[in-house]
Amino acid sequence: MPRTNRLDSLIAKAISRRQFLQATSALAASGLVAGCATSSNATTVSPSFTFKSVAPSVADRVVVAEGYTAVPFFLHGDPVSDGPGWKFNAANSSDEAMQQGGQMHDGMWFFPLPVGSNKSDHGLLVMNHEYPRAAQLFPDGDKDMSAEKVRKMHATVGVSVLEVKFENGVWNIVRPSKYARRIHGLTPARLGGPAAGAALMKSAFDPTGFAAMGTMGNCGIGTTPWGTYLTCEENFHDYFSSMGGPVNPMQARYTLRPKPLYKHPEFDLRHDASKHPNEFNKAGWVVEIDPFDPTWVPAKRTALGRCCHESAHYAVAKDGRLVVYTGDDARFEYVYKFVSRDRVNTTNRAANRDLLDHGTLYVARFDAGADGKAQGRGRWIALEQGQNGLTADKGFPTQAEVVTFARAAADVVGATKCDRPEWIAVEHKSGEVYAAFTGNGQRGRPDKEGANPVNPRVNNLYGHIVRWRENGGDAASTTFEWDVFLSCGNPEQNEPALRGNLKGDLFTNPDTLTIDYAGRLWACTDTAEATEDELLKLRGNDSVIAIDRATGESRRFLVGPVGAELTGLTFTPDMRTAWVNVQHPVKDWPNTAVDGKPRTATLVIRKTDGGVIGS
Ligand code: FEO
Ligand code: CA
Ligand code: CA
Repeated sequence: MPRTNRLDSLIAKAISRRQFLQATSALAASGLVAGCATSSNATTVSPSFTFKSVAPSVADRVVVAEGYTAVPFFLHGDPVSDGPGWKFNAANSSDEAMQQGGQMHDGMWFFPLPVGSNKSDHGLLVMNHEYPRAAQLFPDGDKDMSAEKVRKMHATVGVSVLEVKFENGVWNIVRPSKYARRIHGLTPARLGGPAAGAALMKSAFDPTGFAAMGTMGNCGIGTTPWGTYLTCEENFHDYFSSMGGPVNPMQARYTLRPKPLYKHPEFDLRHDASKHPNEFNKAGWVVEIDPFDPTWVPAKRTALGRCCHESAHYAVAKDGRLVVYTGDDARFEYVYKFVSRDRVNTTNRAANRDLLDHGTLYVARFDAGADGKAQGRGRWIALEQGQNGLTADKGFPTQAEVVTFARAAADVVGATKCDRPEWIAVEHKSGEVYAAFTGNGQRGRPDKEGANPVNPRVNNLYGHIVRWRENGGDAASTTFEWDVFLSCGNPEQNEPALRGNLKGDLFTNPDTLTIDYAGRLWACTDTAEATEDELLKLRGNDSVIAIDRATGESRRFLVGPVGAELTGLTFTPDMRTAWVNVQHPVKDWPNTAVDGKPRTATLVIRKTDGGVIGS
């Protein structure tokens, strides 16, 4: 049998063993609901990749490995159900946009139907829409902004839920669908956890402090073992402004701007922090959505802390409590972990409904090892009111302040400032956790902090991937061991101290990290941090990279069109279909943009022989 086919069969065996174990409930604590895990729990091997790697490309098209197809599946403006379609020259109204895919597709997950099954031919494809770009939303761009234009900008962020089905060798979107839904910047949401109902959440728009209007800045994602979707509010500060008024220190810690980036504050007063400052506190959270329940009110889980959340992937502790890892994607920010108070109920899905509202929030401190190499020990420091210096006189009279100003709390307890921690992926069988530190060109600048053990390079334009293992193999442990798994960058371009150590294909700026159902690591890149022309030739446009966890070898699988980042890679449980998002293409691709408005798109990826992705 050729090597590729052997690998294909090895992976298929590993996956079917996993499905068998899940079906027999052997995974009580860690597998839970099948098809919702971020990686394999029962796979006994983690096969390497055997596809032929793709050369760097700077073309305005998608290039995928030989033997594969990658075609546009769902574009900005396509209807999620049987609503109105895209109109050329961005002519759709805000009402129409609320029934269509938003802009800037980002984090994404395939949930098999029915819930809890391992079906790979029918499911819900759920994705984030990160931010609005006026040039592609309006015929005249951001000129003459109006309440209707701001409403359409609200409509274009948030989440899309699509029902998708594989029939006669083709994936289609089911229209109409009882599951299909848009959640956007004006969808009523609720707050749960320690900050819900607190004084700092009350405003003229919501005197109770329990309500929030919509979600925005939706970047990375996570899931839960009971099959819900976690959308992460990242650059939420872009939608708010003090409108020339003073910015207090806590607002400044969350980048509230005196001048607005978007025009929301002029037409929607919830975004004007000079008039309604507490509305700003209602953004920047991990938001739980049940994609199987179209009536679900999105729940902002404040126990997980407020920051520019990038992703929220879970692990299950030895005693069955849920652990959620999340990064704060900004330069010199932190890595967090939430440990639930209660155990996951593996037999009653509804019993987990408010599980994410009670628990302990921790922040990571990475300490050097004895040998001075880029590895060492780490501690999770609790962000609990009354502990570790988080007292009323420091600005933390209750846990509501601790979680709402988690960045400031992390400053107090001496956590480690990192180089843009983005996605964090968990390999459940080994307990290994991988975190993408996308880069930080400001590290070591005279006015900024220098290198530290886990961010060892100044002027870190290219980023690195950090790996850790919790002590005792228990995700709830408060100590761990870490190392720099790999350092990205151009080995030919820099002085030795700044060079990467990649084995295999060159890439920079890992953003999305995903562990597939066979336990293999994938990265998607967002290279905005490192834009040199020389580097572009060597590395090409943003890419999907497969990384062998055992050897660290990197292999380029897919390259996107000009100007686009790749994001949100997700798989069916049988690993025979993948989807990935092409965010912010800037030229002609995907060729449906005859009006000069290139549209963000989801690609569906298949192997032409129907085999396992990566083989
Ligand atoms: Fe939205 Fe940090 O990427
Ligand atoms: Ca990202
Ligand atoms: Ca990004």
